[in-house]
Amino acid sequence: MIVALCSLKGSPGATTLAVALAAGWPSGGHPVVVECDPAGGDLLARFRLDLKPGLVTLAAAARRTAAGDTGLIWQHTQRLPGGGLPVVCGPLSAEQARAALAELAGEPGLLVQAAARPDAVVLVDCGRIGADAAALALIRAADVMLLVTGTSDDALAHLAVALPAVSRLSPRPRLVLMGEGYPTEEIVHALEIERLGVRVTGRMPYDPAGAAPLTGRPSPRSTPARSRLGQAAAALALRTAQDALIAPPEHFAGIPAPARPDIPDAWPVQQPAPTPSIDGRLP
Ligand SMILES: Nc1ncnc2c1ncn2[C@@H]1O[C@H](COP(=O)(O)OP(=O)(O)O)[C@@H](O)[C@H]1O
Ligand SMILES: [Mg+2]
Repeated sequence: MIVALCSLKGSPGATTLAVALAAGWPSGGHPVVVECDPAGGDLLARFRLDLKPGLVTLAAAARRTAAGDTGLIWQHTQRLPGGGLPVVCGPLSAEQARAALAELAGEPGLLVQAAARPDAVVLVDCGRIGADAAALALIRAADVMLLVTGTSDDALAHLAVALPAVSRLSPRPRLVLMGEGYPTEEIVHALEIERLGVRVTGRMPYDPAGAAPLTGRPSPRSTPARSRLGQAAAALALRTAQDALIAPPEHFAGIPAPARPDIPDAWPVQQPAPTPSIDGRLP
C-alpha cells in the first residue's frame, strides 16, 4: 500500500510523522519512507545520510528499468541509524528534488509496483501541497492521503480554504491534527469536514522529546516506542493499515483520476484577494 503524507503551510511535522509511522507500523508490514518533498529532503541532514542511494538514484534507475520491477525502490534505500528503518532520502536541493520527482511522476506506476508486494508499505513524504504537479501525481497514486495540519487559527483558516480541493485529491483523504490547538470535535464541526468526505484519522501530541529521535537528535529519555508521539503514531499506523482495506468511494474505483473533470489535475492557484482601494471599496 501507498500512504502519501503532505501539508499545506508551515512545518506541522509531516516528515517526522512519516518516520514515526514507519517505526510504529504493525508487524507484518514492511515500511519504507520515500522522501519526495519538492522543496528538498530533510532526512539526509538529520540522520547524516549520504546523497546516494536515494531519490536521485531511484529516479535515474526508473528511467532505465523496465516497468514491473517491484524491487526497485528497495535497492535505493539507506537505513536510519538505530532502528534501521529503510528510507529513500531526498536531495537537499529543491532543484534536484524537483528533477527527480518529475522522473518519478512520469512513472507513478513505479511506486504502485513497489507497493504491490502484499507486505510493502510505501510512506511517501510529498511535502507541502503546492504548485508541483509531480508531487500531486504521487498523492493521487496513493491509497491513503494523510494531510498533516496544525490546529491553530491560522493553520485551520488555510485548511478551510483548501479542503474542497483536498477532498478530491485522494480516494481516502484523511487529516492528522497536530498539537494542542482547538479540540478535534470543534474542528470537525466548524469546517464541515465530513460533509466533504474527509475524515480526521489522528491527533498527534506536541512532544518535542518524542520528536527528537525521529529527527536524528539522540534522546536518552525517549524512544519512539515509549514516547507519547511514538505511541500515537503507532495507533495511527494501525488505523491507516485498516483504512486502506476499506473500499474507496465508487467514483474512485478503477477510474484514473485525471479522467474526471471535477478532480483537479493541478492545485488551484489562489487568486490574491482584491485589495480595497483607499476609500475601502473593492475595485
Ligand atoms: N509532534 C511533535 N511535537 C513536537 N515537535 C515536533 C513534532 N513533530 C515534529 N516536530 C518538530 O517540528 C519540526 C518540523 O518537523 P518536520 O517533520 O520536519 O515538519 P514538516 O515535514 O511538516 O516540515 C522538527 O524540528 C520536529 O522536531
Ligand atoms: Mg517535511
